[in-house]
Amino acid sequence: MKSVGSPETPPSNHRHRTQHRRLLSVAYQKVSTPTRFLILLVLSFILGYLFHAQPLVSQSAADLLAHSTFLPEKCHNPVPAENVRQTIIDRVFNHTSPWEGFPPKHVSSGGLIFKEWTKGWGSNAPVFEHLIQKAKPKTIIEVGTFLGASAIHMVGLTRQMGLDTQVLCIDDFRGWPGYYDEGKGMQMVNGDVVMLYQFMQNVVRANASDSIMFLPFSTNTALGGLCDWGVYGDLVEVDAAHDFHSAWVDINNAYKVLKPGGILFGHDIVWVGVRKAVEIFARLHGFKIAIDGEHWVLY
Ligand SMILES: *[C@@H]1O[C@H](CO)[C@@H](O)[C@H](O)[C@H]1NC(C)=O
Ligand SMILES: *[C@@H]1O[C@H](CO)[C@@H](O)[C@H](O)[C@H]1NC(C)=O
Repeated sequence: MKSVGSPETPPSNHRHRTQHRRLLSVAYQKVSTPTRFLILLVLSFILGYLFHAQPLVSQSAADLLAHSTFLPEKCHNPVPAENVRQTIIDRVFNHTSPWEGFPPKHVSSGGLIFKEWTKGWGSNAPVFEHLIQKAKPKTIIEVGTFLGASAIHMVGLTRQMGLDTQVLCIDDFRGWPGYYDEGKGMQMVNGDVVMLYQFMQNVVRANASDSIMFLPFSTNTALGGLCDWGVYGDLVEVDAAHDFHSAWVDINNAYKVLKPGGILFGHDIVWVGVRKAVEIFARLHGFKIAIDGEHWVLY
């Protein structure tokens, strides 16, 4: 049972406080009414300013930061850029390149891939050229790849610019539940969506497999892996699920594997969930947001 407090005993400094109060009251009476009014006015201005300068959202954003537990505080020491591709091959694919022997017979003759199916949204937007030109990246991490259109576009750009770049594609390669593209439906094996093969087919067909590695897992686990292994990107693009919660987690995790001085950007700032996540993240980390077409870029 909660106990009821004992009667209060006056604190030892009670007498001093009483004297203070008396002084204040004398001072109050000495000040004229217009002056009192003026003081009140100035006070309310100051209070109004103080509370206005801290809008509610920054308070909740601060709470988010205090309670965010995204990956370890610091990722593993970086592996050299020239070892990134092999690191993925070793860690994800047990030392054998996934491009070896692709496509296997059961895929090519089993109707599991189209010769080409490179659907995408804003995949050739100018932002890619702008940022690649600026960052001259050795490693690009793409969070949300779908069928590989923008990754293939980025490979084309880096090769044109004479850069030796690896693009790491993160996606579960399943689209989303019930996704169906007119005429070129999702291929399934007993309900198992096998979009990964189509992505690989597109990359091979574009002669980009020397420049692309992929992690066929959820964004969360894949970025956690990169963090554990010390794989960082000079450019990190976030373009996976567009609801607030997904975008928020992706952006936070992606930032952990952004090289110091690198650029974090992403697609579809017009989606309200994405915009909210980007705005809160930018405010918390002191970034500004630039808009380039449909993309957001932090700087
Ligand atoms: C990885 O490959 C080696 C052979 O190179 C094999 O002995 C081992 O079982 C493989 N591990 C897994 C998890 O498949
Ligand atoms: C395919 O890509 C490689 C680089 O990985 C390049 O050396 C070769 O010239 C390309 N082939 C064609 C036909 O473009």
